[in-house]
Amino acid sequence: MRASPLILALPALATAQQIPFLDEIKGFFQKASSSISSAVQSATESASIPDPVASGAAKIASLKVDRLTVDNHNTLIQPGSPNAEPGIETWLVFVTGGNKTCYGMCNKAETAFNESVPLISASPKPPKLALLNCETDGVLCHAWAVNPPSVLHFQLPQPLADQSTPSSTFRSIKVNRTTITAPEIAAVHLQDKYLETEPYEGFWHPFDGPLAKAGLSIPVGYAIWGFSQVPSWAIMIGVSMLSRTFMSRRAAPPAANRPAEGATPAQ
Ligand SMILES: *[C@@H]1O[C@H](CO)[C@@H](O)[C@H](O)[C@H]1NC(C)=O
Ligand SMILES: *[C@@H]1O[C@H](CO)[C@@H](O)[C@H](O)[C@H]1NC(C)=O
Ligand SMILES: *[C@@H]1O[C@H](CO)[C@@H](O)[C@H](O)[C@H]1NC(C)=O
Repeated sequence: MRASPLILALPALATAQQIPFLDEIKGFFQKASSSISSAVQSATESASIPDPVASGAAKIASLKVDRLTVDNHNTLIQPGSPNAEPGIETWLVFVTGGNKTCYGMCNKAETAFNESVPLISASPKPPKLALLNCETDGVLCHAWAVNPPSVLHFQLPQPLADQSTPSSTFRSIKVNRTTITAPEIAAVHLQDKYLETEPYEGFWHPFDGPLAKAGLSIPVGYAIWGFSQVPSWAIMIGVSMLSRTFMSRRAAPPAANRPAEGATPAQ
């Protein structure tokens, strides 16, 4: 973070003591910074998550965390699934990755998620939980256009009486892989922090996007994943061969034009 030039200039102004409204400015900054710090403090306090032991989580069995794959995703996470409980089924899916897909930096975030499981399990209405590893299930990550580390939040309603399925709500919540903690992940559900992220309604929506409606999410996922498996040196060679072909084709006409160019005298 960079301090604003005005703040940096304040000490210099203070020694100069020539500006009458300097105290006012200083007072303003003091007030602003104290109100920011109190806001931060109250946010931190309200973010306090019940101690899992105190809240009896020790006695509550931790929820099962399904491992989401290309094969099981549409039987597990499905709007209007026959096995779902009535009402809205909520899923919280943690997206992790490995050396290639997360530069080897998802371990901390994944540990935080694992530690958030008992916290979430202690909630009165826990969501269903799953883990999606983009290193091993890259096709699904590409099909949904999600990147690790992130938290996916699904709300899947039951079909209505007329058999139509109300649209489902999907949010992809980015997490900071260096600072994320278990209480923060738990707060996505426990404190409805998911509401701070706008629902995603675009092209890649896993159920209601045009791609999914056409049944093409997974094929497109395979295509992009396949392309991502091509080593970058192979792409470089391909690009250089293409551009060489292109250049050699273009080389001929300018050579023919050269006399005409030379004919126009440069003033
Ligand atoms: C990831 O990279 C680290 C260091 O480069 C290596 O020690 C580790 O074995 C790798 N893990 C996997 C799963 O390939
Ligand atoms: C998190 O838990 C899963 C099982 O749900 C396990 O496979 C994985 O290794 C754990 N990750 C870490 C970083 O502990
Ligand atoms: C994560 O948080 C650290 C420390 O606050 C910050 O330096 C970094 O830019 C953040 N990363 C992202 C991707 O926001």
